[in-house]
Amino acid sequence: MTKLAVLGASGGIGQPLSLLLKLSPQLTELSLYDIRLAKGVATDLSHINTNVKVQGYDKDELADALKDTDLVVIPAGIPRKPGMTRDDLFKINAGIIRTLAEGVASYAPNALVLVISNPVNSTVPIFKEVLSKRGVFNPRKLFGITTLDLVRARTFLNGFETSGSFQKFDEIHVIGGHSGNTIVPVLSTASKTYSKIAAKDRDALIHRVQFGGDEVVKAKDGAGSATLSMAYSAYIFIERLLKAINGSSDEVIEDTFIYLDNSILGASEVRRVFPKVDFISLPIKLGKRGVESIDTSILKKLDHNEEKLLNIAVKELNINIAKGVNFVKNSS
Ligand code: NAD
Ligand code: LMR
Repeated sequence: MTKLAVLGASGGIGQPLSLLLKLSPQLTELSLYDIRLAKGVATDLSHINTNVKVQGYDKDELADALKDTDLVVIPAGIPRKPGMTRDDLFKINAGIIRTLAEGVASYAPNALVLVISNPVNSTVPIFKEVLSKRGVFNPRKLFGITTLDLVRARTFLNGFETSGSFQKFDEIHVIGGHSGNTIVPVLSTASKTYSKIAAKDRDALIHRVQFGGDEVVKAKDGAGSATLSMAYSAYIFIERLLKAINGSSDEVIEDTFIYLDNSILGASEVRRVFPKVDFISLPIKLGKRGVESIDTSILKKLDHNEEKLLNIAVKELNINIAKGVNFVKNSS
C-alpha cells in the first residue's frame, strides 16, 4: 500500500503528473489537492481503469488530503513568464511553500517530500526550516527535484550524435542547484561522446542545459514554463524512489537536491570541499529510508571546466539558500 499526495494537482505540471501517477504500478492511492479544480481532475482520472484509487480535495481539505500519505509531491506555485528569473517567483511561491510545509508538518510528518516549485534552491530550504521548527525534519526524506536538468542533458547530448539512434548516457550527471549558473552539467564522464564534440560546441551544450528552462518559457510566450517534460521527469524520479524504498531495485542513484546533514554518509566530505554549502544536488544513493548516502566520487571526476562551473554555482546557491532560510527565520 503506497499513498502519494500531489499538492498543486490541477496545474500545468500537476495534471499530467497525476495522469502518469495514475498509471504507476507501484502506487495504490493518489490524493490530489489544489486551491482549485482538484475534485474535477480526480473525477476525470478516476474513470481510468488502473489500480490506483484517486481522490480530490478542495482548498480547505489539506488535512484530509495528506492523511496517511507516504509521499508528497509539490508542484504548487506560479511559473515564470518571459524575462523573469526563477528567483522572481520567490515573492509568491515562498509563502505557498511555507503554508504547505506547515500542513505536511501537521498531517504527514513522516512522509517523503519532493519539492518541484521554484525557485527550488530556496523552496527546499524553506521546507526544511518549517519542518525543523516543528521538530519533524528528517534529512533523508526531503528532496528538491532537479531531474529535468538531467533529462535535458541526456536529450541535448544525444543531439550531438550523428548516428540518429537514442543513447541513454547513464554516466552523466547534473549537479549543483536548479537555476541558470547553479546548474552544473557533468558531461565529461560520457567520454566517448564528449571527446568528439568541439570545444565551442561543448560550451553551447553546457549553456543549453543550464538555460533550457528559458527556451520553454520563451516558446510558451507568457503561458508558463515546462510542464510536460517536468511531469515526465518527476514521474521517473518517483518511480526510481519507490523502487529504492520497496527494495525492488539493487542500486538506485539519482541526482537530487538534499540537505547535507552530517548523519548522511558523504555529507562531511562535501562540506570539506564546500564548507558553507548546506544544500546541493549530487548523485544520491536512494534506499529504504530515502537518502542512503551521497556518491561523492563525482567530485573527483570533474574536468577543469566543470570544477570552475561548480565553484561559481556554489556561490550563487549559498545566496539562494540563505534567502529561503531567512524567510522562515524572519517570519513569526
Ligand atoms: P501552474 O500555475 O500551471 O500550476 C500551479 C498550481 O498550483 C495551480 O493549479 C494553482 O492553483 C496551484 N496552487 C497555487 N497555490 C496553491 C496552494 N497554496 N496550495 C495548493 N495548490 C496551489 O504552474 P506549473 O507550470 O504547474 O508550475 C508549478 C511550479 O513548478 C512553478 O513554480 C514552476 O516554476 C515550477 N517548475 C519547476 C521545475 C523543476 O525542474 N523543479 C520545472 C518546471 C516548473
Ligand atoms: C525548468 O527548468 O524548466 C523549470 O525550472 C521552469 C522554469 O522556470 O524554467
